[in-house]
Amino acid sequence: METLRAGVIGAGFIAVRGHIPGYRAAPGVEVVALCDVKEERARQVAQELGIPRAYGDYRQMLEEEKLDLVSICSPNAFHAQMTIDALEAGAHVLCEKPMALTFADAQAMVETSRRVGRTLTVGFHMRYGPVMQAAKSLIASGRLGEIYYAKANLWRRAGIPGYGSWFTNKDLAGGGAMMDIGCHMLDLSLWLLGHPQPRTVSAMCYAKFGPRAKGLGSWGADHFPPGARFDVDDLTTTFVRLGEDLTLIVEVSWAGHMPNAHQLQILGSEGGLLYNPMLFGEEQPMRFLGEVSGELVEEPLGFSDDGKTAYQREISDWVTAIREGREPLVKPEEAAMVVQIIEAAYRSAATQKEVSLG
Ligand SMILES: NC(=O)c1ccc[n+]([C@@H]2O[C@H](COP(=O)([O-])OP(=O)(O)OC[C@H]3O[C@@H](n4cnc5c(N)ncnc54)[C@H](O)[C@@H]3O)[C@@H](O)[C@H]2O)c1
Repeated sequence: METLRAGVIGAGFIAVRGHIPGYRAAPGVEVVALCDVKEERARQVAQELGIPRAYGDYRQMLEEEKLDLVSICSPNAFHAQMTIDALEAGAHVLCEKPMALTFADAQAMVETSRRVGRTLTVGFHMRYGPVMQAAKSLIASGRLGEIYYAKANLWRRAGIPGYGSWFTNKDLAGGGAMMDIGCHMLDLSLWLLGHPQPRTVSAMCYAKFGPRAKGLGSWGADHFPPGARFDVDDLTTTFVRLGEDLTLIVEVSWAGHMPNAHQLQILGSEGGLLYNPMLFGEEQPMRFLGEVSGELVEEPLGFSDDGKTAYQREISDWVTAIREGREPLVKPEEAAMVVQIIEAAYRSAATQKEVSLG
């Protein structure tokens, strides 16, 4: 098996906790280089993790290393350009979520990957959870009948990440709760629904806590000079019409007087799915609600867990897809659809009008 040479851009949380261990668990992959605009950080992390070379300039890394695989683990605003540069340099790319700040950028990323013939995927690792895989199989079996409604919530009571860092800075993050965690909820819902075309988007955004420096969580790095800048949403509610007559409601908060919660509901003509996963906790079984011989039933559904992390499964799927010349589970066009809806949600909230996606 040919050894694939991987390089990582951004030496922060997700690189260290997700991508680098993910590569190391994948057979025939070697992480040969790490880059961070803070070169000292790149050097320190590379030394700690035994990565041979560190860079402060990602373009230099791309030019010198001739990488097969590149992970983009930088703040959101840099995803599009870095991905395009890495693809143009001949690498396959795993870009962290959200894919880009604008639909136009996301489309440019997809087009570049097609043109240069390299595989692009996006870090929606939650799809790889065993319960999510079981949910997808159940839906594919047709047991839910005709699906017409989905609702996904992710509520954090006090979970604003990296206050004053890039996370709460609109120029670098592109948005707040909706961009950061809403993208996961949108991706899971759209994937389970089979990616019907979004038609209209209506949303409201709030920032009731961040501007007062309240609702702050311990999550998120503060690698940028500290400041009090918070110009993003800390709660967003979104209503999407999809396909012929599907409804999707996504509600997310970084902060709000409501308990932490994470729930996904899918309703079909013959059955419903209720799922209460934990974001980074234990997998919870989903429940199937339906009717058997005229009786209403509610049953937990089994799933099998191979003990791997979702990042390991994500990277293993991506690397196998490259080796086998097939598409990875997360296709870039699907991640672009998430960006399209988020962009429309922010536009809808700003204009207080429904946005039509034609
Ligand atoms: N899949 C998930 O659930 C998940 C979880 C966490 C973060 N993420 C995503 O990963 C990305 C990074 O998040 P994080 O939590 O690791 O952030 P972080 O702040 O911990 O790390 C980002 C790193 O990028 C570096 N950086 C900034 N500009 C750079 C540049 N021009 N060139 C090279 N390096 C640069 C920073 O110095 C920092 O070390 C974000 O897009 C975030 O949304 C995804």
